[in-house]
Amino acid sequence: MLLLFDRNGLILAASGGAEAFFDYSADELIGKEIETLLPEFRRRGHSEAAKSHAEFTAISRHGTAIPVEVRLGILDGASGDPFLVTITDLSARKELEISLKHSRLEMERLRDMLAEKSVKLGHSEENLRNNREKFRYLFERNPLPMWLYSQETLRFLEVNEAALNRYGYTREEFLSMTLQDIRPEGEVERLRKNLGSVDRDSYQRSRNWRHRTKDGKLIEVDIFSHAVVYEGAPARMVVALDVTERNTTEAQLRRSQKMDAIGQLTGGIAHDFNNLLMIILGNLEGIADEAADNHRIREMVDDALSSVARGAGLTRRMLAYARQQSLEARIVDLRSQVSEMADLLARSLGEDIRVEQRLPDDLWKTRVDPSQLESAILNLVVNARDAMPHGGTIVISGRNHTMDATEALVHELPAGDYIVLDVKDTGTGISREDLEHVLEPFFTTKPVNKGTGLGLSMVYGFAKQSGGQLGITSELGSGTVVSLYLPRFHEQTETTAAEPPASGLVHSGPRKTVLLVEDDSSIRKMLERQLNHLGYEAFAAEDGPSAMALYERLGEIDMLISDVVLPNGMSGVEIGAQITAKQPAIPVIYMSGYTRNELNQSALNDEKIFLLQKPFRREDLTRAIQLVTSSATKQA
Ligand SMILES: Nc1ncnc2c1ncn2[C@@H]1O[C@H](COP(=O)(O)OP(=O)(O)OP(=O)(O)O)[C@@H](O)[C@H]1O
Ligand SMILES: [Mg+2]
Repeated sequence: MLLLFDRNGLILAASGGAEAFFDYSADELIGKEIETLLPEFRRRGHSEAAKSHAEFTAISRHGTAIPVEVRLGILDGASGDPFLVTITDLSARKELEISLKHSRLEMERLRDMLAEKSVKLGHSEENLRNNREKFRYLFERNPLPMWLYSQETLRFLEVNEAALNRYGYTREEFLSMTLQDIRPEGEVERLRKNLGSVDRDSYQRSRNWRHRTKDGKLIEVDIFSHAVVYEGAPARMVVALDVTERNTTEAQLRRSQKMDAIGQLTGGIAHDFNNLLMIILGNLEGIADEAADNHRIREMVDDALSSVARGAGLTRRMLAYARQQSLEARIVDLRSQVSEMADLLARSLGEDIRVEQRLPDDLWKTRVDPSQLESAILNLVVNARDAMPHGGTIVISGRNHTMDATEALVHELPAGDYIVLDVKDTGTGISREDLEHVLEPFFTTKPVNKGTGLGLSMVYGFAKQSGGQLGITSELGSGTVVSLYLPRFHEQTETTAAEPPASGLVHSGPRKTVLLVEDDSSIRKMLERQLNHLGYEAFAAEDGPSAMALYERLGEIDMLISDVVLPNGMSGVEIGAQITAKQPAIPVIYMSGYTRNELNQSALNDEKIFLLQKPFRREDLTRAIQLVTSSATKQA
């Protein structure tokens, strides 16, 4: 659009475009000052307008400001040299520019965003890597053995450090194996079956698997597993919980509870049988006296007596197992005790069995019942012999052993010093199943009449009652070691007790009074008769209170013979204590079939007190009476 104006700035002519642009008619425009349309024109002067592409703001009829470009030219040849301005509407271009600028900003924003995004992208990649490492770390350092195996090939795909440590393989070795390789031979079939039945996706927990470690040891494990997809293929993630130790302790607890229960039962039976045997024995001896001239009756009685003796042997071992035998503990030097047995052992074993003794000089001392110890060793040696039908060598060795708290727990013993006597053979060995039962009374694998199954039971009971333990390690086909643990005796605390005097004193007593206390009426009657036969006048009572009443009436007596366990509130030992308080020099014989160490050691060390183990024969009673009366006379 064009405008023509004179030196005074009055418009002379306008183009049609200008009319439309400024919204004035040509007539209205002519004579108007140029500054009405371009307000900055005079201020910025011609010189500026003369520049090409100067930008001005034009004002239209309605006051709208519109950006324009103004170009000034001089029209030659016209009167008064009028000026010509060419005006170009910039608003469209401006809009374009603005939108361009907007797009540029937008683009920049987008670019920034993109940049930001890609930074974030970078971060999350790093995170991902971090997480993977973190989880890898957790897997690797998990204290429980863990692995991943392929469901298709059963090959191990990943394995953690705990598994390497527990199973003893290197990572390469582990990853070259399959699940079957860590199972013991016999259990691969069960594994196959189990894998077949596992829902491939499920979580599974299965107990009591046995795994084999590299050194061939079997461990017991509970398995937790879960299906996963690993590198695109189905796999299972496994955690193996080693329960070997837990199972062992549980089994140990069960076993010791069982042994206690059987012990009580056995002890009870043995006690009752002892009383029965007592009666049979006493009456047989009575019959023998009555029929002294009848040869046939004597023979029958002798047969019956030897059976009673066998029965008594059985009940003695049963009581030993039940830890209810009365032990006469003495300080024992195992070395001399065992070497003194050499002859006895040689006699009990065949020609093709050799016994080797390895007992060091510095072996500690122990304090146990020597005769029970001897019979324990004999039992172990005979077992070893029976396990070697084709001959071999039995090694009896002794060692000093200090048990720390952990080991003591395993052996159910207090920690401390022990002497261990090992009896080792190279015989048949004992199977895993049998090993569970060998300590139980009457468990035997020997033919009828060959074994009673009380040998090890007796040794076990003896060991326990003496404050020790019995341990057995055995392998089928290679042999057995039975270890008898006995507590060390610290010498400074006690001096060796005197050996009991030898028996065989001849009795020729005047008629003396005996207070006899026994609750079983048959035994009481029988003993009364025996005592009368031995020249005593027996006064019998059935329990403590009646015995004390009888004692008050009698005033003084020459001897007390009492059962230890009695009904109605007073034990034999209490009766003994009350009577010796009044008659300190009185000889006392206690009878017991069921002693749970009711007698304290000082009582047993007193030579005028004797403990007679039921069942006993008349000659045992005689000998006991001789012993206590002679000691009483000595002391008096
Ligand atoms: N040294 C051993 N080698 C192999 N097996 C043994 C050994 N010692 C014990 N046994 C097994 O333990 C079982 C029980 O032994 P235990 O001594 O208690 O009874 P027994 O020897 O059978 O009979 P008993 O000792 O009463 O004559 C035996 O029958 C045998 O199977
Ligand atoms: Mg035996």
